[in-house]
Amino acid sequence: MAALSLLQALVAIFITKCDATWATAALPKFSHILVFGDSSVDSGNSNYIKSVIKSNHYPYGLNFPYHIPTGRFSDGKLIPDFIASLLNIKDAGPPFLDPSLSDYDIRTGVSFASSASGYDDLTNAALGVIPASKQLEMFKNYIARLKGIVGEEEANRRIGGSLIMISSGNNDFLDYYNALTRRRLQFNDTGFQDFVLDLLQNFVLGPVCITLLLVLMMFCLPLEMRISQELYNLGGRSFAIFGVFPNGCLPIQMTARLVHTCLEDLNAICQSYNEKLVALLHDLKESLPGSRIASANIYDPLIDMVHHPQKYGFVETRRGCCGTGLIEVALLCNIAKPLCNKYFSVLVLGFNPSNRSSLSFLLTY
Ligand SMILES: *[C@@H]1O[C@H](CO)[C@@H](O)[C@H](O)[C@H]1NC(C)=O
Repeated sequence: MAALSLLQALVAIFITKCDATWATAALPKFSHILVFGDSSVDSGNSNYIKSVIKSNHYPYGLNFPYHIPTGRFSDGKLIPDFIASLLNIKDAGPPFLDPSLSDYDIRTGVSFASSASGYDDLTNAALGVIPASKQLEMFKNYIARLKGIVGEEEANRRIGGSLIMISSGNNDFLDYYNALTRRRLQFNDTGFQDFVLDLLQNFVLGPVCITLLLVLMMFCLPLEMRISQELYNLGGRSFAIFGVFPNGCLPIQMTARLVHTCLEDLNAICQSYNEKLVALLHDLKESLPGSRIASANIYDPLIDMVHHPQKYGFVETRRGCCGTGLIEVALLCNIAKPLCNKYFSVLVLGFNPSNRSSLSFLLTY
């Protein structure tokens, strides 16, 4: 039953719910996953960079196979891990920066995501994270390595047939909301949403370049060169792009403001960004020949889990899993803290969906 729902969940990501055939549609065939974004999808790249944002210690990983902390900001698996096993590709998507990656890992896909990063290069830059633009650079290195293993033609075929999952933006909005970058001075709420959407569009497609005038072309040439770096132009065709969380319900945010209810103003900014994202992705799909682009709504399932925890078997939703209600993330969350109940909370360790909420997301999608 559960397995069937999971299969349906994946189908649903690519087919609208209104489509009466969605429950019986064939599972999309992918033999390859590529993952970009923040801690919601970082499977451990943070272990291999100088960033101070680390999760390679307990209780992270407590519900992961063999109970090992992997560098995922979760007690267990992340959504792309579940999707990879659902597609029968592998049990989990390894981090690209892992020096022990096998040829098989390269052939079947990896994660380029970096915890605490955003679409905006400024987001948490001081923490040494890898922003989206640098993740594209890593992807280029990855392609070179893949070509070395399977040859150019097969590499192109595999990338064209890969499922690309992108989950970012959360940290952009958190930094904006908490006024941690100069973006707060630069933009109002709607302006910042549009700015992030522009960055996202560039990430997938490359900057739009109008080549009407010769003079303009001179500006465009370097841009055209940049275009060749972007995901679509690098051969990506199937995208599942996640909206942002109800970030106002993150335990770390509520704790910082000494409140025990979700920050509704931050949630409102996130929610209206998500609505604009759905519209943008619809337009993008129309304009990119051969593309399949799905927006994955994680906001609604998560907020439902926060408001109706018992429906999903959770006990605690307002606090991270360390259970103190303080800012429980990275080094502040360690084995010395009282451990969580076995189901963990919805947003584990102050920040991310837990193993159980990731699974619930797929089960209820
Ligand atoms: C936000 O800024 C834009 C331009 O920067 C402006 O057009 C718009 O009216 C502003 N919105 C609000 C609600 O102030």
